[in-house]
Amino acid sequence: MKTITLPRLGTFEAWRDAARDLAAQGVPPEAVTWVMEGDAPTLFELGSAPRDARAKREVTVPKDFPPLARLLCAARVPGAIDLAYRLLLRVSETRGLLKNRADPEVARTEGIAKNIRRDMHKMKAFVRFREVTAEGAARRQFVSWFEPDHRIEELMGGFFARRFGDMNWAIITPEITMHFKEGDLRLEAVTSKKPDLEDETEALWKTYYANIFNPARLKVKAMQAEMPKKYWKNLPEADLIPDLIAQADARVAEMRETAPTLPPVRAARVLDRLQGQQDAPLSADGLEGLSQALKGCRRCPLAGPATQAVPGEGPEDADLMIVGEQPGDREDLGGRPFIGPAGQLFDLLAGEAGLERGAAYVTNAVKHFKFQVRGKRRIHQSPNGNEISHCRWWLDQEIALIRPKLILAMGATAAQALTGQSKGILSRRGCMENGLHGVPVFLTLHPSALLRQPNPESRDEQTRLVRSDLRAVAHWLAAAA
Ligand code: URA
Repeated sequence: MKTITLPRLGTFEAWRDAARDLAAQGVPPEAVTWVMEGDAPTLFELGSAPRDARAKREVTVPKDFPPLARLLCAARVPGAIDLAYRLLLRVSETRGLLKNRADPEVARTEGIAKNIRRDMHKMKAFVRFREVTAEGAARRQFVSWFEPDHRIEELMGGFFARRFGDMNWAIITPEITMHFKEGDLRLEAVTSKKPDLEDETEALWKTYYANIFNPARLKVKAMQAEMPKKYWKNLPEADLIPDLIAQADARVAEMRETAPTLPPVRAARVLDRLQGQQDAPLSADGLEGLSQALKGCRRCPLAGPATQAVPGEGPEDADLMIVGEQPGDREDLGGRPFIGPAGQLFDLLAGEAGLERGAAYVTNAVKHFKFQVRGKRRIHQSPNGNEISHCRWWLDQEIALIRPKLILAMGATAAQALTGQSKGILSRRGCMENGLHGVPVFLTLHPSALLRQPNPESRDEQTRLVRSDLRAVAHWLAAAA
């Protein structure tokens, strides 16, 4: 009997080299025992295992086998590595074996592979970084603790290096520490205990989580399936979850009570009063005159059902102008831009990025709320190209008055109004484009897109992108000051 000890790092490569050698010598599966380093003290040595008569044959495998074998080598499942070797011998003899799902070994392999992929997915979703940046450090530094079910660290390093390539980080697991520093990824096999981690970002993250938690969409079973309790101990938001669940019914009832309604009768009277001003000439009285004139706007049919036009707000000498899509339900009733959930999320992310909202002029590409009535609710609808161009008249006036150094366009509508281009925002975000008004326009995603994103992983990813865009804007402004 031969015993092969595989290292904790480079496991698959070591298995592949040894398995290829053993297979070439015709060593049958029952003559080999595979163990992981640390699990048994045996040293790797090729010895006197029985060989069959076809010694030193050429072993080739189909290309879908190595990725599966790599997953088997990561499995913390008894017999998984033996299974990989048995399958290696069989696929080298029987092409197409892996397509035969009725084969018990293929079926078992698929089952194990599925679990490993699930573990990898959970790691992507539940790694939470805490900031530990030292004073004066050039790059921000983060640490995370994660306990995977399987030995997936080597499979995941590349993913985290790509996703968090702009910072230094370490992900510590009980057996492996992954260090990512100045763009270089290094893995170290060391045993670790959960470090004591807490930072300020944690409080922000909790506020954000509590804000995006929608009690009306709560499905406890689905939530527990997607976010099993065993991961909770390492999630900062976990201690909020029991309360959020407990309060969900009451919050839904409250949401029903306060659900947005059609504009109140009082609003119709206000509109009537404003009607007289609809053709008011554009005042030369700066922003104040502009917002008075805007009140009477009837340039497009959106003015009819909305409560009021929502003007921009902020200092007349702002360096930065921030442009969203259109007022939402809250803004329509309150008469100010970005005061609803999207605005609150924006304020949170902008604050983190060092952007002061009060120093910027904040407005929308379209000044009236466009919605569809469903029951008692007013559901947001995106403005179309015509409505965007009609309303550009107001945006042009605002830009002419403020003359900002930079405009931040949030979302596709703002991007279209400011650049004339309607190409998708995802491929354009994070970039500066030439604006129609001679002012550079920096593009990012709209905060509502983050709030509406149902997939937590995509939501995290998009939030990270917006955060990094806002930081880029803050840097740009600091450099231009
Ligand atoms: N979304 C916007 O684009 N603007 C607002 O003012 C509110 C939500």
